Amino acid sequence: MQRKEALKEESNLLPFLKIEGKRKLSGYMKVSGAKNSALVLMAASLLTNEVVGLRNVPQLTDIDVMSRLLRAIGSKIRQSSNILKIKTNKLNDSSSNLPYDLVHALRASFVCIGPLLARLGEVKIPLPGGCRIGARPIDEHIQGLRALGARVEIENDYVVAKAISPQKRLNGARITFNCKSVGATETILMAATLAQGTTILENAAQEPEIQDLAKMLNKMGAKIQGAGTSQITIEGVDYLNGCLFTVMPDRIEAGTFLIASAITRSPLTISPAIPEHLEALIIKLQECGCLIECSGETISIISRKSLQAVDITTSPFPGFPTDLQAPFMALMTTVKGTSKIEETVFENRMQHVRELQRMGAKILLEGNTAFVVGGNNVKATSIRGGDLRSCAAMVLASLVANGTSVVKGLEHLDRGYEDFAEKLNSAGASITRTHSQVQKTSHRTTKTYEDTQILYSDTEVA
Ligand code: EPZ
Repeated sequence: MQRKEALKEESNLLPFLKIEGKRKLSGYMKVSGAKNSALVLMAASLLTNEVVGLRNVPQLTDIDVMSRLLRAIGSKIRQSSNILKIKTNKLNDSSSNLPYDLVHALRASFVCIGPLLARLGEVKIPLPGGCRIGARPIDEHIQGLRALGARVEIENDYVVAKAISPQKRLNGARITFNCKSVGATETILMAATLAQGTTILENAAQEPEIQDLAKMLNKMGAKIQGAGTSQITIEGVDYLNGCLFTVMPDRIEAGTFLIASAITRSPLTISPAIPEHLEALIIKLQECGCLIECSGETISIISRKSLQAVDITTSPFPGFPTDLQAPFMALMTTVKGTSKIEETVFENRMQHVRELQRMGAKILLEGNTAFVVGGNNVKATSIRGGDLRSCAAMVLASLVANGTSVVKGLEHLDRGYEDFAEKLNSAGASITRTHSQVQKTSHRTTKTYEDTQILYSDTEVA
């Protein structure tokens, strides 16, 4: 059965994973295209009225929601498995007033404010709001757009932005971000490509997804230098062309697989994966006692039976990625010794601690610092991931638990991991995806995206 049909059928039911513990893995795991790159590349396609073709796009619910948002404002999208062709030669009225429900369903879509303001000279977009891991402010996005010559106001839960110049065109500026923000760097980078004059970004985020974005924009005719460093220079141009671009491999999925190898003490080979994107994790896994070999875009890992606890502190790239903090904590529950895990990027990204404790893990949580006393066998039980990466952590912990676990919260997992259970099963895991009848509730609950599986829209042919 096709993926979308299967998920549509599930949408009225509560899907969950049944995971048999104490299974070894072996062989090879394929890494999909990067969700956090594909999403911003889709937004960047709004900067041109020509066709932008994206290859290696992962099939995920976040991608489906972004496609629905772009279609709602006038984009024509043709999708065939991992290839997206997007043409936005005319934007409709919604483009200057983006659909509330879709922006709220996918807060990452807020970066569309950059390309739409650059292309239209004005845009109204709902405040994306916070999520389970934090308040997710957008002050850096707003300050940056104001510096480029836009009037930006917040009016009743909307951000209204207008280019001040009579030609409704943004002007280059020197902008220093107060904090390293991936999204704000992406928003301003895209807006600056069509501005009049040169923009210099200081204290820019350095994540690989920003390098992927700059690579594609330059292929479209932009003039960007320094992406991947903290200083990026953009010389504005009048027009951007379409292009064909391949999304980079997902470094967070690749890192999750490396941790799956370590937690099950199994040898694994994963590809495609770019070792430079995973340096901080690789160093920590090696400190822990794993043997890792990188050759081109293939990474092989062997984990000794006895691994040691190591401390991690998350930080912006090239530091240890916050998106791998939860999976890494699952690993630390199985190794000898006590590890200190500090989350410094998001203020509420420790929800997996409670679930791991319910599995018998010994974890002391003080604010955003967890002390994990490893070496105890976690026991199988019914657990729920509260966000995308904590859900992945629950799956990894279940792989080594005594007994068969039930992992709920798949609406989060399906946002960021393509065929996660199938890929693990192909390496020897025993995971079945099933569902229980949804409990009819008497009261109407206002469901947000996190609680509701967005129905897959039928793919309209562009
Ligand atoms: C991106 O989110 C990723 N999402 C996140 O991945 C990732 O965890 C995060 O970067 C950090 O690497 C996508 O790319 C779609 P930020 P983003 O702006 O851009 C503060 C996942 O699991 N901040 O770099 O929203 C903010 O509060 C997701 O795949 C401001 O203060 O993250 C946070 O503390 C989760 N003001 C810090 O910066 C702003 O205007 C980093 O946020 C913007 C951000």
